[in-house]
Amino acid sequence: MDALECLRTRRSIRQFTQQPVDRQTLEQLVDVARFAPTANNRQPWDFVVVTDRNKLQQLAQAVEWGKHIGQAAACIAVTVQPGTYAREDGANAATYLALAARAMGLGSCWVAGEPSPSSAKVKELLEIPMGVHLTCLLPIGYPAEDPTPDKRPLESVIHWDKY
Ligand SMILES: Cc1cc2nc3c(=O)[nH]c(=O)nc-3n(C[C@H](O)[C@H](O)[C@H](O)COP(=O)(O)O)c2cc1C
Repeated sequence: MDALECLRTRRSIRQFTQQPVDRQTLEQLVDVARFAPTANNRQPWDFVVVTDRNKLQQLAQAVEWGKHIGQAAACIAVTVQPGTYAREDGANAATYLALAARAMGLGSCWVAGEPSPSSAKVKELLEIPMGVHLTCLLPIGYPAEDPTPDKRPLESVIHWDKY
């Protein structure tokens, strides 16, 4: 799959097959996320890769809109040390992870981190220090669905020379 096709066809996947995802593949995803852009090249992130089935279930129970974590082979928590533009940096890393997953035939779906009410519980479960910002959780697995959410057409979003 070329890069443009990967960008155009990535979708949020909330249903996964039972096929496991091996550790090396998960490592490769995080390895790619390291290349996302960050303000002043701070790279303020850390990634918590969860594969323990019990912990996946606990996360699924803790979050409001992420019950699909319970079905996933793994879940990656994207965290950033606070600082100017840290949230943008975290979002960039999460997007890189989601696109890398797509390129490798995997599915993922952003599950809200802070400021969602469940994030304190998630941080406690994963032992993420309270001062560290939780960008999101990204469940990872082989897709068992192929959704096609509407996207705004090009002509409704593009503006030339003025808004
Ligand atoms: C900041 C952000 C928060 C999101 N939070 C959730 C969430 O908590 N649970 C969920 O199932 N999807 C969540 N999503 C995924 C969106 O619902 C999804 O990206 C959107 O519906 C568009 O679909 P697509 O990703 O397939 O293009 C979130 C996405 C973003 C960018």
